[in-house]
Amino acid sequence: MNTYILISDLRKKLNEPGNKNKSVGFVPTMGALHEGHLSLIRQSKQENDITVCSIFVNPIQFNNEGDLSGYPRMMEQDSKLLIEEGVDILFAPEVDEMYPPGEEPQLDLDFGRLDKVMEGKYRPGHFKGVAIVVKKLFDFVQPTRAYFGKKDFQQLTIIKHMVSSMKIPVEVIACETVREPDGLAMSSRNLKLTIGEREMASQIYDVLMFTKANVETSPVKKLQGIAHKRLATNPAFRVDYFEIVDMQTLLPVASWENPENIIACTALYLGDIRLIDNMELFS
Ligand code: PAJ
Repeated sequence: MNTYILISDLRKKLNEPGNKNKSVGFVPTMGALHEGHLSLIRQSKQENDITVCSIFVNPIQFNNEGDLSGYPRMMEQDSKLLIEEGVDILFAPEVDEMYPPGEEPQLDLDFGRLDKVMEGKYRPGHFKGVAIVVKKLFDFVQPTRAYFGKKDFQQLTIIKHMVSSMKIPVEVIACETVREPDGLAMSSRNLKLTIGEREMASQIYDVLMFTKANVETSPVKKLQGIAHKRLATNPAFRVDYFEIVDMQTLLPVASWENPENIIACTALYLGDIRLIDNMELFS
């Protein structure tokens, strides 16, 4: 595996004559890699000639300093995992390389309601920060295909919107959420849970499964209310939202019409750690 911290070195490698007609699969991450990330990498390896992974803890997508400084960083271990998976190129830039001092990071793109609802309501500016860094990374890597997890469903929707609105020549591939044996969606943030919190965290999956099992037995709003309450009755949880929304618009649905487009999304705090998860209700 070749590791680069400079954009110019990354470009030089990808521009080598031998790489000219090769397909490039790209997996952007913030590191602290787990099986969820590795599943994206494995899919990219299967579908492309070259797989590039990036590790960059993107400061402009964090809403508070504590979350950013506390974000797990384990470059050596991550690097080992990537070598084991047969990743060809790791791009791991420093902050100044991605955001040269004096340059105001910006992206002239309107996301409509997509970045205002759910996560957008609780993490203002977060998706703008994600879109800015992903656009830059796409410019540097120029991938054929880019792999994103459904675990971050709103992020996936926003990236798809950016790619189609800006006509970026990349195919966005949505990958299934990888879960722990008890159902908890894998996340770098799980490392920060106490043993007790970790045990309770699987209730998020239980409530999503309960919702899926009970679709059409009651109106959407009622089921949403019951699910929300099931989570909120655990005093250790502070629920930001539990919403049943349209997968394209991310707006609440009023009925069970168009079932193939309906997804339940939730976010909650367990202690200081904010977890998100979702489930397609009719798949
Ligand atoms: P990060 O949280 O490191 O996630 C990197 C990619 O892995 C994302 O596409 C995410 O959806 C996917 N992923 C995380 N957990 C997963 C799981 N349990 N199953 C399947 N896929 C999973 O998402 C980001 O980084 C950043 O916002 C980024 C896109 C890199 C921009 O900074």
